[in-house]
Amino acid sequence: MVREGKHPLLAVEELSVQFLTDRGVVRALEKVNLSVGEGEVVGLIGESGSGKTTTVRSVLRILPPSAEITEGSVHFMGRDLLTMSEKELNAKVRGRAITLVPQDPFNSMNPVFTVGTQIRDILKWKGGVDPEDKDTERITDVLREVQIPSPLSQLRKYPHQFSGGQRQRLMISMALLPHPGLVIADEPTTALDVTVEAQILRLFRGLVEERGISVLFITHDLGVASQICTRIVVMYAGQDMEDAPAERIFVLPGHPYTRELLESLPRPDGNIRDIPGEVPSLLHPPSGCRFHPRCSMAEPRCARERPPKVEIHAGHWVRCFRPLE
Ligand SMILES: Nc1ncnc2c1ncn2[C@@H]1O[C@H](COP(=O)(O)OP(=O)(O)OP(=O)(O)O)[C@@H](O)[C@H]1O
Ligand SMILES: [Mg+2]
Repeated sequence: MVREGKHPLLAVEELSVQFLTDRGVVRALEKVNLSVGEGEVVGLIGESGSGKTTTVRSVLRILPPSAEITEGSVHFMGRDLLTMSEKELNAKVRGRAITLVPQDPFNSMNPVFTVGTQIRDILKWKGGVDPEDKDTERITDVLREVQIPSPLSQLRKYPHQFSGGQRQRLMISMALLPHPGLVIADEPTTALDVTVEAQILRLFRGLVEERGISVLFITHDLGVASQICTRIVVMYAGQDMEDAPAERIFVLPGHPYTRELLESLPRPDGNIRDIPGEVPSLLHPPSGCRFHPRCSMAEPRCARERPPKVEIHAGHWVRCFRPLE
């Protein structure tokens, strides 16, 4: 794709999404704003149900039929993906300019094709290999980069013959190596056990740094986010609450919700402190700032209007009328 305009690489603006269900309208996203600049690794963090997956599915327009995007735009390389034709999206964007590392490495590879065939197909799409090229060197190089041992003998294997960690290495190889414009990783390590998770994160970070790849990294795990991300966007109940450099947000959170989230992390002494109150139903979300019913700092106007984004420090944005000092 040819870059147009002066937007950042990815700019999600005022994105609102709802799901039509038997129980009513689920207001999953309300005017969400976030961006990913060239070479940035942006973490999208939030508790379960806060709208992380809905946001990334909106970017690729792979939402279920019950979903409706009611407002907003998603600019990628200057083009609005929400108004692009399906044909152009498939030809240029999905799996090409934007790739996805899925949460579940078990169900996301095609079980009926060998791993070699699947990687060759991806490289072919991206113009990496000549379709007639029988040379497997480039593919074994790819496998070597994600540290799959004896790559040549692996090419004839089927996905089920690999372990979960190896399958996720393969997914990463398919998503990262032919140099996409943007990689979206939706909780790519949550299905793996802790030691494998650490290895995969190290591998992922290494490849991203080496290649200067831009990433939108979804996770509910603040520890994982702090290891990988350069900037963090915090979501709560379908609203973006805070957007700050990673090295700042963990030390000096500006939003009362982010502070609660950080304080609810398990402590070395084993104590866990819950955020008082309950995550709201998005069938009837709170008005104004959706965190206000649980917020110790809330004042009447928090229920009336949603706070605008204010910059409390260079590059540190908070949606709160009373940001923390
Ligand atoms: N197909 C659907 N139909 C109805 N509601 C949905 C659907 N998919 C998601 N939702 C609702 O939209 C909201 C956001 O869900 P989403 O899956 O985006 O959250 P998430 O942050 O990715 O959570 P998790 O950490 O559990 O993956 C939730 O309230 C969820 O119940
Ligand atoms: Mg999700």
